[in-house]
Amino acid sequence: MRGGDKPLYLDPSQPIDRRVEDLLARMTLEEKVGQMCQYSGITMEYERMIREGRIGSLLNVFGADETNRIQRIAVEESRLGIPLIFGLDVLHGYKTIFPIPLGLASTWDPDIVRRAASIAAAEAAADGVHWTFAPMVDIARDPRWGRIAEGAGEDPYLGSAMARAYVEGYQGKSLSDPDTIVACPKHYVAYGGAEGGRDYNTVDISERTLREIYLPPFRAAVKAGAGTLMSAFNDLNGIPASANPHTLRTILRGEWGFEGFVVSDWNAIGELITHGIAGNIYEAAEKALKAGVDMDMQGDVYRRALVQLVREGRIPEGLIDDAVRRILKIKFMLGLFDRPYVDPERAKKIIKCREHLEAALEIARKSIVLLKNDGNLLPLSRDLGSIAVIGPLADDHEAPLGPWSCLGDPKDVVTVLEGIKSKVSPKTKVLYAKGCDIEGSSKEGFDEALRAARESEVVIAVVGESRDMSGEAACRAYLDLPGVQEDLLKALHATGTPIVMVLMNGRPLSISWAAENIPAIIEAWFLGVQAGYAIADVIFGDYNPGGKLPVTFPRTVGQVPIYYNHKNTGRPPLPDVKWTSKYLDIPYTPLFPFGHGLSYTRFEYSGLEISPVEVGANDTVKVRFRVRNVGDREGDEVAQLYIRDPVASVTRPVKELKGFKRVTLKPGEEKTIEFTLMLEDLSFLNSEMKRVVEPGEFRVMVGSSSEDIRLTGSFTVKDYVEFPLM
Ligand code: NOJ
Repeated sequence: MRGGDKPLYLDPSQPIDRRVEDLLARMTLEEKVGQMCQYSGITMEYERMIREGRIGSLLNVFGADETNRIQRIAVEESRLGIPLIFGLDVLHGYKTIFPIPLGLASTWDPDIVRRAASIAAAEAAADGVHWTFAPMVDIARDPRWGRIAEGAGEDPYLGSAMARAYVEGYQGKSLSDPDTIVACPKHYVAYGGAEGGRDYNTVDISERTLREIYLPPFRAAVKAGAGTLMSAFNDLNGIPASANPHTLRTILRGEWGFEGFVVSDWNAIGELITHGIAGNIYEAAEKALKAGVDMDMQGDVYRRALVQLVREGRIPEGLIDDAVRRILKIKFMLGLFDRPYVDPERAKKIIKCREHLEAALEIARKSIVLLKNDGNLLPLSRDLGSIAVIGPLADDHEAPLGPWSCLGDPKDVVTVLEGIKSKVSPKTKVLYAKGCDIEGSSKEGFDEALRAARESEVVIAVVGESRDMSGEAACRAYLDLPGVQEDLLKALHATGTPIVMVLMNGRPLSISWAAENIPAIIEAWFLGVQAGYAIADVIFGDYNPGGKLPVTFPRTVGQVPIYYNHKNTGRPPLPDVKWTSKYLDIPYTPLFPFGHGLSYTRFEYSGLEISPVEVGANDTVKVRFRVRNVGDREGDEVAQLYIRDPVASVTRPVKELKGFKRVTLKPGEEKTIEFTLMLEDLSFLNSEMKRVVEPGEFRVMVGSSSEDIRLTGSFTVKDYVEFPLM
């Protein structure tokens, strides 16, 4: 407990490093280890441990009054008064829930993502939360993996842009601002590469794939100043990620100079025993700490093992000091020593305030991707005589919250049915029928749904997955619409009433039949609390959709993994040549490609200029072109820049995204878009694992999706250039 003269570490006028050293020098070994332990929830036992200085952090504790109460124990009743850091999974909103991260990535708009993250941070911070276990920046090329919903999809360039935006949004300008929380990019690393798309499964990838595909978003997050990082569950090439000195020490701290702290994923240190690289908690603790894991989430391994390991001389106390230093530094940076409590009035004022709900609507609208719109069925007129709203997700208040929806409340969710009712003219009759459940085999509801369809001028069929079919431990071996939903669609189709299909889902789905037969398809992901209004705005044309897919949609699960930036192979697919890389039973092409998304207007690309076309070692390359809205309504286009290095010393992808920009254009309006490529953007790892640019031609492709390339050109690099690894 505090008393007597004020120690230096409690003096806010002192520099943080001095405060950290002063405090560290006063701590017992047990207190140091305490800072490295994190537990979930609060119990009497935990309260006692906090009083004794044996817990540094809690997760899943929130609420201004509750966090203040617990913080008071740490600050006023423990010997040194070290405040706790409270962590929570704030992924896509705190109480004002935004689209799931895969939906946010569909905006292709980092400003929007930054805004969503900063609102989430402000709400969480007001409720006593200091730290979010987000963003999830795992690249995912396998839609069977349920956690694809939590990230930005398949591409390292888009993923890096999103990673940066989240970190900037959560952390703001300064961690000491009352509106900011510290970010924790996760799950370091390659967790999304799980074999078979099965969660927690083994990952075995090359060093090149690790560095070129999976690491870049983490690198971007660290560069943006992320204060912490979470080590993953998975085995990575034989060494589990939470005990991997190569990724945690050599790359993260050595090559990147990361100065924040690393927390393990939930019991990932304990699971080193299950992985089979540690025989007991002592070996597990030793391996994790030596690799560079500073805090043990919920494993209770550090608490039980570290003091003894130091006493036995198996771990130098200096290693413990380093970890504690990093943890304390973040606590000081957050201002927890100087302002440990939050003002409960503030939470009441800002959480779910009007401004946040308005932002949620705008962000949800921007996340929508129009997959198909044959014959311009959409937008619908709001004074149709009758509309049938059908499907198990049409009036579902839970699903739009999506997985990891923090403290989202189903009562706050606007359903599609509600959204549509709020938009139509007074004379429009809106018929609703659920039709079937999301899962299960009952077709009892079909008759009522078909009756509604027959009585209506158009059907809006809202189908997809429940919110718990994606996220952690929610992997699927089939990517079809679950249950009898496709049968329902087929029956509705047979009535002859035109159908607009609205998809709610946490992953790409293989909806080949629908893509062939349903004229209009809206990809709505899980859009958060304003889902229904946003979808209705798109249906009736109050908002012109402009989102693009951040991930490839396969025709069937048998094509997985399928991604746009694949290699060419020695025998790229040729439709009429048998001995080329393809399938006997389905086309090799995706159902919907990466970057795809339609609009109610049309855009024309022209005037590609590349300069210089002969590029020297110190040059940058400017790629300039024009995009014109040639339709008759305002709309957004995401212009995409891809490059290809056609001949190099190692094989390179057929396309790599290297720039994108979402622009809004009025009818007839034209904008010039310019991207600047640094030579480093063209670099890759050669056979000696050096990051280089090799002289020769680079092809430039500009377009509206990875497949819809509108302009092409090229430039030549004159010199061989080598760069530091990352
Ligand atoms: C386990 C999950 O893998 C991780 O993403 C999450 O942050 C933690 N649990 C804490 O809830």
